Amino acid sequence: MTDTPKNQLRSRAWFNNPDNIDMTSLYLERYLNFGISLEELRSGRPIIGIAQTGSDLSPCNRHHLVLAERIREGIREAGGIALEFPVHPIQETGKRPTAGLDRNLAYLGLVEALYGYPLDGVVLTTGCDKTTPACLMAAATVNIPAIALSVGPMLNGWHKGERTGSGTIVWKGRQMMAAGELDEEGFIKLVASSAPSTGYCNTMGTATTMNSLAEALGMMLPGSAAIPAPYRDRQEVAYHTGKRIVDMVREDLKPSDILTLDAFRNAIVVNSAIGGSTNAPIHLAALARHIGVDLPLKDWETLGHKIPLLVNLQPAGDYLGEDYYRAGGVPAVIAQLMAQGLIREDALTVNGRTIGENCRGAMIEDEKVIRPFDRPLKEEAGFLVMTGNLFDAAIMKTSVISEEFRQRYLSNPDDPDAFEGPAVVFDGPEDYHRRIDDPSLGITPETLLFMRGAGPIGYPGAAEVVNMRPPSYLITEGVNALPCIGDGRQSGTSGSPSILNASPEAAANGGLALLRTGDRVRMDLKKGRVDVLISDEELAERRAALLAQGGYPYPESQTPWQEIQRAVIGQMNTGAILEGAEKYQRIAQT
Ligand code: FES
Ligand code: MG
Repeated sequence: MTDTPKNQLRSRAWFNNPDNIDMTSLYLERYLNFGISLEELRSGRPIIGIAQTGSDLSPCNRHHLVLAERIREGIREAGGIALEFPVHPIQETGKRPTAGLDRNLAYLGLVEALYGYPLDGVVLTTGCDKTTPACLMAAATVNIPAIALSVGPMLNGWHKGERTGSGTIVWKGRQMMAAGELDEEGFIKLVASSAPSTGYCNTMGTATTMNSLAEALGMMLPGSAAIPAPYRDRQEVAYHTGKRIVDMVREDLKPSDILTLDAFRNAIVVNSAIGGSTNAPIHLAALARHIGVDLPLKDWETLGHKIPLLVNLQPAGDYLGEDYYRAGGVPAVIAQLMAQGLIREDALTVNGRTIGENCRGAMIEDEKVIRPFDRPLKEEAGFLVMTGNLFDAAIMKTSVISEEFRQRYLSNPDDPDAFEGPAVVFDGPEDYHRRIDDPSLGITPETLLFMRGAGPIGYPGAAEVVNMRPPSYLITEGVNALPCIGDGRQSGTSGSPSILNASPEAAANGGLALLRTGDRVRMDLKKGRVDVLISDEELAERRAALLAQGGYPYPESQTPWQEIQRAVIGQMNTGAILEGAEKYQRIAQT
């Protein structure tokens, strides 16, 4: 093991700069303050940041406070020095008005920390939904050697002998409550049963999705994404992650070497096979833009739609995180896809080997949980990218279209894959909650529900609210899902086949702002279109009237950050990043 010559370490500019001995002494004395010796700091050892996303405010990632000890030991073992520091908290379920507001804020903060402090490499502690993209995006911008460590999912939840999955059980429980099968106390108990341990959501929600994709992208040690948080293996991989980052610094293996177009294409294919979250296209678009890779939204359909669903996890399937790990996790899925020639095998990963080398021969250990490619759960399980006269782009997750839904909406012999009906429009989640059970809306099984004002500007950060339940009276009649369309997001734990992430959003005066309750709308999956059935002239008139009254109204900002972000955030089809930030690339090298 040879040390990198000192002049290759960027931390040398702080601790070993003969041209500026005044500042060097100042930098040194303060970092000496907590027990690192002068000798160590000036020895040319790589200095490794541990970007800590866990805290009491972020329970999903809190176990990283424990894992960081093992990361440190790995870093020390390999000859590095560890400096742990906090990342702005993002708690998906606890942050008001929405955690969507915070991904770009955590990104910004982490860019400043990685750029402005004496760090040669960084361990990114990922987990809860947006912590993973926020960390990867910042590492992409700064482009110092970086490796992600997932905190891992919670253990499986159980209730009366059945698996209860995080998030998914909420959507089920609220239907049961609406149908009068459950009281409030029972509802809370049922939901709590799904969260039996430390870790993130045990379903294939956005957390499991984004950590699986971080591994598929090559940013995490192979086989590590799916290890449940409390398992011994999780501690062990924390140690190996710490060891590995020190060598990555010595090898100068950077995010730009790993996050290539091939890596992103692999991630899209893997996302279909795992039944990944509809938040993935937003986060991958953002990451691609920060590393400088061109990844059009349409790629999700061209590369991803035909891929079958292999992973049988809730919400698309039956099982949970522990089962996913035991069945082989990400490598087993990738090996199935590789055998079909669907993976670009030469993409490099953090361990210095290619994804092909890492995953070749990985076995499925339980075919109930991970299906072999020739016996999938569903064929053609990837996303459709929709367009039409109400928006330029939106995503539909086809793997969660239920048989009931297909029968009711997509099986008209004269018009297969299409459906026409009247719209009922809600302006934001509060409006929806207030009115959904109001009989005067006249919602029938023919109705399409619309949610607007829930995009990156309208509900700052974009709310996970498009999966709307039908009114109680329809649920008691057995109608469990209506077609839902909107400019908000949807939790990855939801099994609703909504058309969501519609861009541009109503608050940017996109077409949804022109829609009125009672308009007839046609959704056509074969053509990939959603259109309101009114003339272009009428639409133009409505647009002129909307603009004359100052555009689509949305609530005022409640915090300075809401105002700042609203002024610069882009739409979801291009990653909802801070527009302009993408011009800062590979800044550690400049
Ligand atoms: Fe944090 Fe689901 S709420 S992972
Ligand atoms: Mg979520």
